[in-house]
Amino acid sequence: MTISPNTSPLIRLDNVDLSIDGRDILRGISVRTDVRRVAVLGRNGSGKTTLARIMAGLQKPSGGTARIAGVDVARDRRGALGAVGILFQNSDHQIIFPTVGEELAFGMTQMGLSKRQVQERVAQTLGRFGKGAWLDVAVQHLSQGQRQLICLMAILAMNPKMIILDEPFAGLDIPTAMHLARVLDGAEAALVHITHDPRMIAEYDHVLWIEGGRIEMQGGAAEVAPAFEAAMRGLGARDDFTDLSG
Ligand SMILES: Nc1ncnc2c1ncn2[C@@H]1O[C@H](COP(=O)(O)OP(=O)(O)OP(=O)(O)O)[C@@H](O)[C@H]1O
Ligand SMILES: [Mg+2]
Repeated sequence: MTISPNTSPLIRLDNVDLSIDGRDILRGISVRTDVRRVAVLGRNGSGKTTLARIMAGLQKPSGGTARIAGVDVARDRRGALGAVGILFQNSDHQIIFPTVGEELAFGMTQMGLSKRQVQERVAQTLGRFGKGAWLDVAVQHLSQGQRQLICLMAILAMNPKMIILDEPFAGLDIPTAMHLARVLDGAEAALVHITHDPRMIAEYDHVLWIEGGRIEMQGGAAEVAPAFEAAMRGLGARDDFTDLSG
């Protein structure tokens, strides 16, 4: 992995800590990478979603800093919107407006684009997906997969440098998941893919394994994925539940 000395790396996490009510959720997370395919592996409760929220600037760390493409995402909210988009597993936690057009417009309005620019980009984005007719459609009448597509369109319309995927394909049928994956693969943005399934990230350039809120291992998928899988199988073979994360 090479990082040019003159530019900020795409992801730069320096000693990120998060404590909530006196409990350590994340501890000493440091990552520097410029690769365009990053994976975060970890089992349930290890801290993946919390780390994703910190990288997107939605959660302020208790210590350390998170910079994405040079933007300190906790301090520069507007800059963070242009740097990072995040797609969650459950689109219901993401969508806040009644119509598709309003939902797509929101992020760009927050970024400071003019009303006219926002309207143009909303129309362009819907057109790109053949969904021009969705502009005034009520979000509540769409299916789960269709709502996930709206969240993805809202992110792509903002044109971020990086998109974080927090297990967004769980619950989608195979064609819908394949369709969204293809769109993401073709996007200009770098991808950070969060998952507990090492098979999803076999070709990733940089893999971060999180265990109990700390980095257990980071490196290429060829090295990290088999080590993670072996550890998970070892834990799964046990009969007691006392060692379950969290
Ligand atoms: N706001 C919060 N308040 C208290 N505890 C929290 C908060 N957010 C996360 N946690 C705790 O932090 C730990 C990590 O949670 P997180 O959601 O990041 O895990 P995860 O790796 O995404 O798990 P999963 O694979 O189940 O999605 C859990 O024990 C969770 O209960
Ligand atoms: Mg999670």
